[in-house]
Amino acid sequence: MLMMRSFIFLLCVISGYAGASLLRLESSLDLSQWNQGHEANAHQLLQVSIALTIQNADLGVETLLRISDPASPNCGQYLSAEDVAHMFKPKPNAVSDVIKWLGESGIDQSHVKFSYGGDRLSLNLSVQEATLFLETTFYHQTHQETGQEQITCQYYHIPESLVRSIDYILAASPVPTHQQIPRQQVVLNNKVTALAPLPPKCLTQTTLVCLRKLYGIPDDVLPHPNNSFGIFEPSWISWLPDDLDRFFDKMQKNLVGHRPKVDAVNGGYLQRNQTGWMFNQEPNLDFEYAMALTSPQEVINVQVGSYEQVGNLDDMLAAFDKYYCGSINPGDKKYPDFYPPGCNATACDCGSSSPPKVLSISWGWTEAGFTSNHLQRQCLEFLKLGLMGTTVIVSVSDHGTASGRGSFCIDDRTGNATGGRFSPTFPSSCPWVTSVGGTQMPQPTDLRTLAATTNETAFRKELSKQILSSGGGFSNVFLAPPYQVPNVALYKDIEKDHLDEIQDRFNSTGRGYPDVAVRADDYMIVSNGEWKPVSGTSASNPVFASIITLINSERMHAGKGPVGFINPVLYSSPYILNDVVTGANQGCGVDQAFRATRGWDAVTGLGSPDYELMRQLFINLP
Ligand SMILES: *[C@@H]1O[C@H](CO)[C@@H](O)[C@H](O)[C@H]1NC(C)=O
Ligand SMILES: *[C@@H]1O[C@H](CO)[C@@H](O)[C@H](O)[C@H]1NC(C)=O
Ligand SMILES: *[C@@H]1O[C@H](CO)[C@@H](O)[C@H](O)[C@H]1NC(C)=O
Ligand SMILES: *[C@@H]1O[C@H](CO)[C@@H](O)[C@H](O)[C@H]1NC(C)=O
Ligand SMILES: *[C@@H]1O[C@H](CO)[C@@H](O)[C@H](O)[C@H]1NC(C)=O
Ligand SMILES: *[C@@H]1O[C@H](CO)[C@@H](O)[C@H](O)[C@H]1NC(C)=O
Ligand SMILES: *[C@@H]1O[C@H](CO)[C@@H](O)[C@H](O)[C@H]1NC(C)=O
Repeated sequence: MLMMRSFIFLLCVISGYAGASLLRLESSLDLSQWNQGHEANAHQLLQVSIALTIQNADLGVETLLRISDPASPNCGQYLSAEDVAHMFKPKPNAVSDVIKWLGESGIDQSHVKFSYGGDRLSLNLSVQEATLFLETTFYHQTHQETGQEQITCQYYHIPESLVRSIDYILAASPVPTHQQIPRQQVVLNNKVTALAPLPPKCLTQTTLVCLRKLYGIPDDVLPHPNNSFGIFEPSWISWLPDDLDRFFDKMQKNLVGHRPKVDAVNGGYLQRNQTGWMFNQEPNLDFEYAMALTSPQEVINVQVGSYEQVGNLDDMLAAFDKYYCGSINPGDKKYPDFYPPGCNATACDCGSSSPPKVLSISWGWTEAGFTSNHLQRQCLEFLKLGLMGTTVIVSVSDHGTASGRGSFCIDDRTGNATGGRFSPTFPSSCPWVTSVGGTQMPQPTDLRTLAATTNETAFRKELSKQILSSGGGFSNVFLAPPYQVPNVALYKDIEKDHLDEIQDRFNSTGRGYPDVAVRADDYMIVSNGEWKPVSGTSASNPVFASIITLINSERMHAGKGPVGFINPVLYSSPYILNDVVTGANQGCGVDQAFRATRGWDAVTGLGSPDYELMRQLFINLP
């Protein structure tokens, strides 16, 4: 929906940047799903946002890899938020050069606003002004699927001398932000079973006791006052107190009456007017298992409010990092001036929360739903969290190589498709998070032959008409990070013949995900008053995050810091995980897409956790 605004056109003559040699750049908004309509009216108001090149992106990567390398003398030496912000400031001449360009282009600089970190400038221009300034033409664009409208340009020009100072420029009419759709919602089994008395049948359902047994998770780790564990939940999705108590009463008696500690970001609140599985199931699952597994550790509910229905990771990241405040998409109706209503640079949810030591995110989107610039900047925020010692743990989706239910595969001819190229999921595809895939116990048909084994296989489940399977694959945006290069190369070698058959569907230079996997089938939870089994990698994620939280407590009691970014340790010591070697994911018309193999694979990563082996390794790191 196009937001019409009245605009008083100021009569000022703007000339192009005379004399400079200009460089043509393509729009960094992904316009592949938008149809171009008529040319925009000269008086229409546009929001222009200039993202300055930040310094030291490479140094940031190098630093993160060094402090998370067990063999490095700097292992575990995390940076403060200020040091991190300082590292990524824009180049000093970037600001002055861009200001100079604006001045010489006749733009009134008193209307230019800086973001808190100083790495983005924003200003309002009419279509006429922006056309001259950026030497382009603005058109109405209509989204093919949602019918949303915006005005923007396909390309623009900047002086060649500024190519090292400007990352990108976005100029567009105000439009709502990308709609963010949960892809990882756990799916409800139709049967509702009463919980069997303990010991439960761990081959057909997952309970707390089963998880402790399967992965060797202790129930007596002392919490540490400096430890913290947070779980992201968006908007109107919230847990129900009675459900938690009913679960704890059966599973973890000491927690009856205990609640997560709510960290409300951007107006986040616990929505209780509406109940039902859509509103409660995901957070009930998260907090029932995370609180019980880490009991009596306090668990933080990072509850992010948003005008959008399902919230926004950018809002959470801005609350953790004031230098990230403001949208990186222009025309975000929530932040015409970079701050939400009632917020400014010194107050509200801009840098208002401390990141927890472990952050669990069971929500994600398809990489193709964002521009690569947006993905890069958001991924850099995860890198920053790693630099400060936070472990970010995200789930991979339950739709195999398709990212989401329905038509998320990539087909250049149609834009959206159920076949075509695989559609990687984000933030799993960001190299600076730990991505968690799914496994399951052998299916009942296998039980006769596999009776006594606890070997897991890749998660794959048929529920009503759809097949769920663990997400996994290779990014189209992020290159394989150095820590996984040998492991991924081995996978490609082992699976060469099979991968050759599907090579047109994925980008073999991309970051491979997931990193690890955890059981995803038939978790017994209480939701909306009933015990029910739910399946999905949303369940796997808080379990892995709980394990890292327990290991952090153990390290802190030994006088050490949190484990921080763990991927380099995992890939260099894969023996601390149980290798999963059977099963495959599916999607985009391929039934056996990525198969589980010996070593790392693009469906179960390095494997599932072995608590004791992990503890022994991590407790001995600096
Ligand atoms: C752009 O215009 C909007 C609406 O008129 C206004 O609220 C906002 O402050 C302006 N932003 C800048 C950066 O001048
Ligand atoms: C918690 O961390 C602070 C600051 O790093 C430190 O001074 C304090 O000793 C720690 N507390 C415990 C119990 O170790
Ligand atoms: C939800 O409840 C609050 C007060 O508890 C009320 O103000 C609000 O209007 C309710 N919203 C809906 C959609 O019922
Ligand atoms: C920021 O907001 C707070 C609370 O609304 C207000 O007291 C303060 O004056 C504002 N600061 C600035 C610099 O606008
Ligand atoms: C995307 O899919 C929808 C629903 O199948 C269809 O109506 C639409 O035309 C498709 N868009 C493109 C570009 O193929
Ligand atoms: C289970 O895994 C172990 C270790 O990888 C292997 O030796 C064993 O043969 C597997 N058992 C079955 C039944 O697949
Ligand atoms: C593959 O990935 C690389 C970088 O990771 C990128 O440059 C390239 O465009 C990608 N190709 C496709 C087809 O997505």
